[in-house]
Amino acid sequence: MGAQPWVLALPLMLGLCSLEARAHRVTDPDFQELYFEQLLDHFNFERFGNKTFLQRYLVSEKFWKRGEGPIFFYTGNEGDVWSFANNSGFILELAAQQAALVIFAEHRYYGKSLPFGKQSTQRGHTELLTVEQALADFARLLRALRQDLGAWDAPAIAFGGSYGGMLSAYMRMKYPHLVAGALAASAPVLAVAGLCNSYQFFQDVSADFESQSSKCAQGVRDAFRQIKDLFLQGAYDTVSQEFGTCQLLSSPKDLTQLFGFARNAFTVLAMMDYPYPTDFIGHLPANPIKVGCAQLLSESQRIRGLRALAGLVYNSSGTEPCYDIYLQYQACADPTGCGLGPDAKAWDYQACTEINLTFSSNNVTDIFPDLPFTEALRQQYCLDTWGVWPRRDWLQTSFGGGDLKAASNIIFSNGDLDPWAGGGIRSNLSASVLAITIQGGAHHLDLRASHPEDPVSVLEARKLEATLISEWVKAARRQQWLQLAKRGGRRA
Ligand SMILES: *[C@@H]1O[C@H](CO)[C@@H](O)[C@H](O)[C@H]1NC(C)=O
Ligand SMILES: *[C@@H]1O[C@H](CO)[C@@H](O)[C@H](O)[C@H]1NC(C)=O
Ligand SMILES: *[C@@H]1O[C@H](CO)[C@@H](O)[C@H](O)[C@H]1NC(C)=O
Ligand SMILES: *[C@@H]1O[C@H](CO)[C@@H](O)[C@H](O)[C@H]1NC(C)=O
Ligand SMILES: *[C@@H]1O[C@H](CO)[C@@H](O)[C@H](O)[C@H]1NC(C)=O
Ligand SMILES: *[C@@H]1O[C@H](CO)[C@@H](O)[C@H](O)[C@H]1NC(C)=O
Repeated sequence: MGAQPWVLALPLMLGLCSLEARAHRVTDPDFQELYFEQLLDHFNFERFGNKTFLQRYLVSEKFWKRGEGPIFFYTGNEGDVWSFANNSGFILELAAQQAALVIFAEHRYYGKSLPFGKQSTQRGHTELLTVEQALADFARLLRALRQDLGAWDAPAIAFGGSYGGMLSAYMRMKYPHLVAGALAASAPVLAVAGLCNSYQFFQDVSADFESQSSKCAQGVRDAFRQIKDLFLQGAYDTVSQEFGTCQLLSSPKDLTQLFGFARNAFTVLAMMDYPYPTDFIGHLPANPIKVGCAQLLSESQRIRGLRALAGLVYNSSGTEPCYDIYLQYQACADPTGCGLGPDAKAWDYQACTEINLTFSSNNVTDIFPDLPFTEALRQQYCLDTWGVWPRRDWLQTSFGGGDLKAASNIIFSNGDLDPWAGGGIRSNLSASVLAITIQGGAHHLDLRASHPEDPVSVLEARKLEATLISEWVKAARRQQWLQLAKRGGRRA
């Protein structure tokens, strides 16, 4: 979700961030990249029988104290597992503190974990792509690694960010005997179950720009209005020229695509509004909203300003002579962006099946053009694209939506700058299903490695997370000893 042009952005590792590089080296985990022979289908004994595919995972034993330390298990999400490992330095810092074994598991159908090879994300090969299959993969992998690594009694904690955060919470709910707790960072468990206002997401993106400056927000509205007005006048070549599109625009379809392309840049800047430069979703400067607004307002013409702002996302290399709005942004069943390439296709399928992301902008509660994505539009798109029909309420039925009374040991953390926060759990639901708010935090800032520019709020959040996790691990150990003692085990 909000997955972005990985393909365009990833090769751009610049040599600017020596500070970051140093911070990384302190906790260089020396990950080993390995593959696990995973069952294709956990829930049907006939169609695929016991056929398997190779699931990729990363493992680091560098910080682990065998027989003492826990297992930290990252439930991978919609992309290459390395991109999550590279952007979740907190887990490694915590592993160093708590002597943990670290595992990052790749989600089936993403990265190199392809059940049917390159064909996996083509229509007709996606039937085994479900949240439930992914969780079962993690469960089987975790059990196997416990055995292989001699970690039978090591309590495990699930970690994840965004969709991965949802998976970490679900992991604790579905497999509580395998994981003792979960840190679910920026996990929009309510929104994806269709339990939120569909205008909330882009309203919250807009709020980030409003709070940067109302002049900036007004500039954005003006730019979109000018584009629309020029289109209505038939001045297509003016729009193409000012905005810098590669093709000459002409149809209403082009206008919708241009609007979607431009709106997506704002989504990325809002999610990635970190106080230092990052290479996660694209290559972005520190405080990208501030930078984007400055660029927008530095141009005397608003459309040129919008073009400059969009350049932060689509022209970070500074080498794009023009925007190919159909190639650089592909509309899909997730209006916050699927990204490009095979991973984007897999995510599109998930957004057409279990994950409900019917978010719209309306030019009233937000600064963007009226771009509806209703359930009816989703149904039609999904039928046309994948031949599937989204199943009403399934995610809520399977995982409880916001009714998590029966769950335990889950932290839901959210940054108040993150447009996904409104779709997540924002209040404490019980003594051990807790919500942490990070003031001034963007999308799962808490999972990132410590940085000198971190706001105090994220330092406090990480401290609380560390304390809770170590308590869960201790409690799990205590329970093991009690059980052994009851059975008259030797270790009691
Ligand atoms: C898979 O099933 C076949 C029979 O269909 C059996 O011969 C084989 O041993 C099974 N393999 C595993 C790993 O269980
Ligand atoms: C992860 O980091 C390594 C080492 O810095 C780099 O070589 C690799 O390209 C990165 N991978 C991704 C997907 O970000
Ligand atoms: C998806 O969520 C919206 C609310 O955001 C709801 O109206 C719609 O019925 C949901 N769709 C399904 C298939 O559950
Ligand atoms: C947004 O709404 C305003 C006020 O109604 C209108 O003037 C403007 O044209 C609208 N902008 C777009 C892009 O539709
Ligand atoms: C991309 O950046 C370069 C360098 O700043 C600039 O010359 C070019 O016009 C930009 N492309 C677009 C589409 O704005
Ligand atoms: C939930 O409880 C934790 C721990 O007591 C506390 O730090 C946090 O502020 C609470 N969260 C909310 C949203 O009240």
